[in-house]
Amino acid sequence: MAMNYQDRIPNNVDLASDRTLQRALEHWQPEFLKWWQGMGPSDFQSSDVYLRTATSVDAKGWATYGHVRMPEYRWGIFLADPDPARRVGFGDEYGKDLWQQVPGEHRSTLRRLIVTQGDTEPASVEQQRLLGHSAPSLYDLRNLFQVNVEEGRHLWAMVYLLHGYFGRDGREEAEQLLERHSGSIDNPRILGTFNEPISDWLSFFMFTYFTDRDGKYQLKSLAESSFDPLARTCQFMLTEEAHHMFVGETGIGRVVKRCIELMKELGSEDPEAIRAAGAIDLPTIQRYLNFWFSSSLDLFGADTSSNAAAYFANGIKGRPDEGQYADHRELASTYDLEIPDGAGGVLAQGVPMRNAMNEVMRNSYVKDCEIGLTRWNRAIAKAGFSGNLTLPSTRFRRTIGSWANVPTDLRGTIIPQAQFEARKDEFLPTAADRAFVASLMQPVTEPGKMAGWIAPPDRGINSNALEYEYVRLA
Ligand SMILES: [Fe+2]
Ligand SMILES: [Fe+2]
Repeated sequence: MAMNYQDRIPNNVDLASDRTLQRALEHWQPEFLKWWQGMGPSDFQSSDVYLRTATSVDAKGWATYGHVRMPEYRWGIFLADPDPARRVGFGDEYGKDLWQQVPGEHRSTLRRLIVTQGDTEPASVEQQRLLGHSAPSLYDLRNLFQVNVEEGRHLWAMVYLLHGYFGRDGREEAEQLLERHSGSIDNPRILGTFNEPISDWLSFFMFTYFTDRDGKYQLKSLAESSFDPLARTCQFMLTEEAHHMFVGETGIGRVVKRCIELMKELGSEDPEAIRAAGAIDLPTIQRYLNFWFSSSLDLFGADTSSNAAAYFANGIKGRPDEGQYADHRELASTYDLEIPDGAGGVLAQGVPMRNAMNEVMRNSYVKDCEIGLTRWNRAIAKAGFSGNLTLPSTRFRRTIGSWANVPTDLRGTIIPQAQFEARKDEFLPTAADRAFVASLMQPVTEPGKMAGWIAPPDRGINSNALEYEYVRLA
């Protein structure tokens, strides 16, 4: 179905044919805008931002670019086109017809999954709301706002499902999505990671690289769902999400590149020398990476999970890229986990594959995370330096699953708690690291100019030059 931009709420779901739903969403729309004004990007609401808006849902060429003031962005409801050949792709009902409505027995499970996903979208906008004031360039400022408006649209995507398929309790959940706030004492966001403020751009790039990538894997597994409207919603969200990870990967890559430039210039890899020259040294980047990777791993849940098994059995939530697996039922297969034996050692344990779905997903995620590291390390090696960046072990600093609260070093070797505490400054960003990074966060607002701690990107947005005025400040 073509996208309709005439209606108050742009959509490709023929919203006009369901007056009740349309009215309910039109009622929610001003509440959303109020939230955006109050909890979205601080200031910049009257600046013209060079944003892309979806104008079709096919994988390529769906974006239209133009200068828009953020509150006038056309947030809408866009689902990928239905695939008439698609059937239930996994679990006990493998091969049967998809669900176009929510089956009664899965109603509360599906609602909880949709609410949890939906909650992360506005949460991240809230976490990032102050970053605009310290953007290293107009190019980066524009990318931040692009990510923010699209996370706002992802909230719309989930709210449409709640309103359209869950009746009155769905509408109540939609209201609460605007009432919880990141970091609030009384009414925080659902997941811990989404209550941490993101106060510097290195953290923002780490978040878009590691935490948005968790989002990508959650969306990929929901895009396999037998509940077809959810699957189609998530399929289209994934095309937007790709840009967020691009921002993370190129962002970290540019910080690394700037560090390399200075190491060459100074003829030194000494972190203090790099810092004195106004850029971020590799060990500091590594500590930020250790922090964000480990906290993002927890978002996949426990390594053995009866909930995950039930989601899979019931066809609610599949594996990312389910099509690549040979067995879509996984009734008899097992998965080998490595768990702590409680006495300082490691134990191999076979668990039913269905119960290990979170771990299967986490493994695909880790592989995907490695792609960026390979690229950044290639740049470091090419410049003739010995330093490199690595992902810590998935056992490191976990708070969920078998490895929760088991102190390990970065390689995953179990160490005494006292040793972990003593080496914390080696593993994770210190207060001094954060203060140093914060000291670099000075805004650069002249078109084409770049802060000294980050290299310019290889190219601009949508074939525009780097000097293009990506944000017209007002
Ligand atoms: Fe999102
Ligand atoms: Fe995202």
